[in-house]
Amino acid sequence: EWALRGAARIVKEVKNPVTGEITKHVITRGINDFKFCQELGDGSYSTVVLATSIHDPFKKYAVKILNKAYLVRQKKVKYVNIEKQALQRLNNSKCVIKLFYTFQDEQSLYFLLEYAPSGDLLALMKKHGSLSEDCTRYYSAQIIDGIDYLHKHGIIHRDIKPENILLTEDMKVKFTDFGTAKILDKTNVNGNNEYDLLTRSNSFVGTAEYVSPELLNDNYVDYRCDIWAFGCILYQMIAGKPPFKASNEYLTFQKVMKVQFAFTAGFPLIVRDLVNKILVKDPNKRLGVKDIKSHFFYESIPFNILWDLPPPPIG
Ligand code: ADE
Repeated sequence: EWALRGAARIVKEVKNPVTGEITKHVITRGINDFKFCQELGDGSYSTVVLATSIHDPFKKYAVKILNKAYLVRQKKVKYVNIEKQALQRLNNSKCVIKLFYTFQDEQSLYFLLEYAPSGDLLALMKKHGSLSEDCTRYYSAQIIDGIDYLHKHGIIHRDIKPENILLTEDMKVKFTDFGTAKILDKTNVNGNNEYDLLTRSNSFVGTAEYVSPELLNDNYVDYRCDIWAFGCILYQMIAGKPPFKASNEYLTFQKVMKVQFAFTAGFPLIVRDLVNKILVKDPNKRLGVKDIKSHFFYESIPFNILWDLPPPPIG
């Protein structure tokens, strides 16, 4: 059954500036309210296209378009619903791409998403080869704070990688691609009604280079798989390449399982120390979010005003 249907009905409250009176207008938004422009990206099950609203040409959106017949044939309908549900739960977040509307026509499903004009983290790293220590600190601090936010809202992303981390105009990170997320329900944890982040989920393999050893060895992951991926990205920002990379997936998996990686020449000692404490095979011995944030590498980062900090010069 499709969870996504037809045009979106939006109730807009308009306040009269003189009388203060509030009137409610019901507007409907369908695919015809948007003008499609150039393609932004191409995934395995979707295409993302830049679009503007015909009512306000300065408003830009990234429209994720999914072919219904293809989703059904490939048995991926479930993932579309997970993505919608996860984005709706996280919709007030600084660190997640906003979902504005969803609708569909005969052929396709449409997700009207916030447009991130500065591209993704992979493109940023490729353009500059690698990032400076200051840039690494700035972007990685946002990523770990974002992961903390997802987990506090009961969402495990499970496929965190540089392609899924987009950048806004003022260079703030935004997570996207929640199709393979694990959405937790609140349960009784030690007498409290909260998300049990240690709930084991299985069998989903993200992207080879960022997959955690526990998934390959024991076929399970919990929230700590996102922290492992964070460690891989932290390494990559400095080194310019992910820590576990081989000529094929099988060999990459071998390296991950053995936690076989080496630091590049000139890799700063302070970042080495942090990476060494995150890329640990046993998830129980892996550094948690709190200890990562209080690592000496982030000494100069005021996490309480993190999202207001200006980006350092790129390089
Ligand atoms: N590519 C994929 N999703 C995007 C988005 N929301 N903004 C910009 N580029 C994207």
